[in-house]
Amino acid sequence: MGPSDALLFILPAYIANATPVVTGGGKPMDFEMTFIDGRRILGKGKTWRGFFSGILSGTILGLLIWELLEFEEKSITLAILLSLGALVGDCTGSFIKRRLNIERGRPLPLVDQLDFLLGALVFSEIVTDLPIEAIIFLVVITPVIHLGFNVLAYLLGLKNTWY
Ligand code: CTP
Ligand code: MG
Repeated sequence: MGPSDALLFILPAYIANATPVVTGGGKPMDFEMTFIDGRRILGKGKTWRGFFSGILSGTILGLLIWELLEFEEKSITLAILLSLGALVGDCTGSFIKRRLNIERGRPLPLVDQLDFLLGALVFSEIVTDLPIEAIIFLVVITPVIHLGFNVLAYLLGLKNTWY
């Protein structure tokens, strides 16, 4: 599996993770509840609408692009697992940030850029066995791509921060 196949493989996760920036809002996933440390479980940045719309768009758009670009490994199950895994990983990252007393929206380098990727990779392992070189490539390249898209979203006025 070459670099372009690895990127095509992970695409549903990227789409799933990016979607809530546009679609998010409404009821927070932690229902405004606090953890034993007195801070929010996940915080205001994780909403049910963002969560489900992310899974939906990652799965549907991912499958569509896989179809168009004739990705060999395309399967509905894999697209769902990558999208769901991305959003679960994203929530896990927020959980960790809140425990470290980092406010919602404040940066935690590497966790912000890799939480969704690691979630997607772990979930996808249920149905596929990604070569280690592909995993390493994605772990290295994803923070770079993530930062690039965030700067773009910031310039387009979709985000208030560039990171
Ligand atoms: N978002 C959402 N629901 C999710 C994930 C994201 O509504 N499950 C939306 C929120 O509006 C969030 C934005 O997408 O502010 C960007 O996501 P992210 O950077 O992951 O959240 P942060 O606001 O930075 O919060 P955190 O500090 O918890 O990472
Ligand atoms: Mg953020």
